[in-house]
Amino acid sequence: MSTQSLPKPPLEAAPVSGADAADSLLLAHRPRRLRRTGGLRRMVRETVLTVDDLIYPLFVMEGEGQRQAIPSMPGCDRFTLDLLLQEVQEVSQLGIGAIALFPLIPHHLKDNAGTESYNPDGLIPRAVRAIKAALPNVVVITDIALDPYSSAGHDGIVQDGTILNDETVAVLVKQALAHAEAGADMVAPSDMMDGRVGAIRQALDAAGWIDVGILAYSAKYASAYYGPFRDALESAPQFGDKKTYQMDAANAREALKEVDLDIAEGADMVMVKPALAYLDIIARLKQHTHLPIAAYNVSGEYAMIKAAAQRGWIDEAAVVLETLTSMKRAGADIILTYFAKDVARQLRP
Ligand code: PBG
Repeated sequence: MSTQSLPKPPLEAAPVSGADAADSLLLAHRPRRLRRTGGLRRMVRETVLTVDDLIYPLFVMEGEGQRQAIPSMPGCDRFTLDLLLQEVQEVSQLGIGAIALFPLIPHHLKDNAGTESYNPDGLIPRAVRAIKAALPNVVVITDIALDPYSSAGHDGIVQDGTILNDETVAVLVKQALAHAEAGADMVAPSDMMDGRVGAIRQALDAAGWIDVGILAYSAKYASAYYGPFRDALESAPQFGDKKTYQMDAANAREALKEVDLDIAEGADMVMVKPALAYLDIIARLKQHTHLPIAAYNVSGEYAMIKAAAQRGWIDEAAVVLETLTSMKRAGADIILTYFAKDVARQLRP
């Protein structure tokens, strides 16, 4: 192949005018023109991350006046209810409009049926009531699943080593009702039992909670990225893994099936979780549904960035913005992220 007909590339700095310009390549398009200045780049930017996109996950525990660090999630703490209120106040002042709550349940309250999960005076209902009383405008989303309440650390009731589906759904329904009663704006089933979205929707409607929404963890994968979260809640499975209910990491079409079912059953928003290793799933769902899509930038994704940044190996702030922007670019409308406060500070004008 001959390259003789190609014009000779200029070896020196680009000519700006006059006779030198004759040495320039004759190009119909020079994409670099639109990258030349910050103003131009801003003008043609396709994806803009804003604080409105963010949901901040928070860990709540029993007691008073305490916040406990979570070693595998540096910068995230568990809060007793009194201090949680201060934290939510701060989160809200940073412009973050929504939080997702997760409870650390004392081990003596855990059992196989997850009974504590639907205690109307349990930790989450008390937290929701307190937050709604103090900061009514904050959108409060609660997790619906048995794992923090399960002595086996599973998202459902265990019998002979298997996770019972329909019996578990009956408990999830009670949990959702307790959270709605407490004032949750949305409930977020993260358990991956079949039929739970429909059962919860019907029960909420029958009880008069027609305006309580469902954020369905629709495409939730059996992922090794949840490790630090399970440290935070002391909720790691006591035997086996979650592969009989959470999805196989290798599957994409199955995500569409799960989303279709959740939409048919009444989900208001659907979620992909984790986010970073599943950007293709987010992009496919975007083509597939008109519902808002949430991406969960999970604990392991957070821990990886924090660990590398602590060693001085990456620029944390830049990597965080780039990572979250990639989720939005892929099609996420909403991002649950432990970086929400940091990002809100960074984006502040
Ligand atoms: C519970 C639940 C998990 C997460 C959110 N809800 C853990 C799990 O399914 O084992 C993980 C969140 C994270 O890793 O940040 N069903």
